[in-house]
Amino acid sequence: MNQDALKRQAAETAYQHVREGEWLGVGTGSTVNHFIDVLAERQPSLQGCVSSSDATTQRLEAAGFDVVELNTAGDLPLYVDGADEANAHLELIKGGGGALTREKIIAGASRHFVCMVDESKQVELLGHFPLPVEVIPMARSFVARQLVKMGGEPELRENFTTDNGNPILDVHNLEILNPIEMEDRINAIPGVVTAGLFARRPADTLIVAAAGGVETRTR
Ligand code: A5P
Repeated sequence: MNQDALKRQAAETAYQHVREGEWLGVGTGSTVNHFIDVLAERQPSLQGCVSSSDATTQRLEAAGFDVVELNTAGDLPLYVDGADEANAHLELIKGGGGALTREKIIAGASRHFVCMVDESKQVELLGHFPLPVEVIPMARSFVARQLVKMGGEPELRENFTTDNGNPILDVHNLEILNPIEMEDRINAIPGVVTAGLFARRPADTLIVAAAGGVETRTR
């Protein structure tokens, strides 16, 4: 089974958490696109959606769903998103698609965070995937120097700005032995908007699609 088929399986499993009449937070990325396809096919009668990116908003609206601001919806019962890496504690690296800041805000505002991955994204130690860090433009070089002092090798994501108008540094070779501590240290650097480590707010449910079947893990 190819990776795309696994993502679709994960998305179908995540759909089982969707409840009619409720708000739904929707993340960003290719796995989420499969999830939106499932929503489009099943057409649940939702109270509305809150989206983590302009791309997701467009897809949801094209499928006929109302998208409102988080400020309008308030706290959400459910947030569904993908990830770039997940460890056994359901801590994540996210932001490969650049939507990490809005994703972290929505995850923080949600009671239940369901994360969908295929088996290739399960890791023992986070950090093989370069850690995305969104920064305020004027702080880019300063933040990069601090990340080097922490042992990382930051690389500016070329020709890319986030939906918030900021650049991203992709940090290679960080040794993330303690994800919560690393998240706190990076967030404490002036000029950092968001580190793509989701350790203080990990997933509550991790859906792992593998060739042998779909497995659901909870904290
Ligand atoms: C978007 O910014 C990311 O956090 C995505 O959730 C993550 O990169 C997973 O994307 P894919 O589902 O495309 O692998």
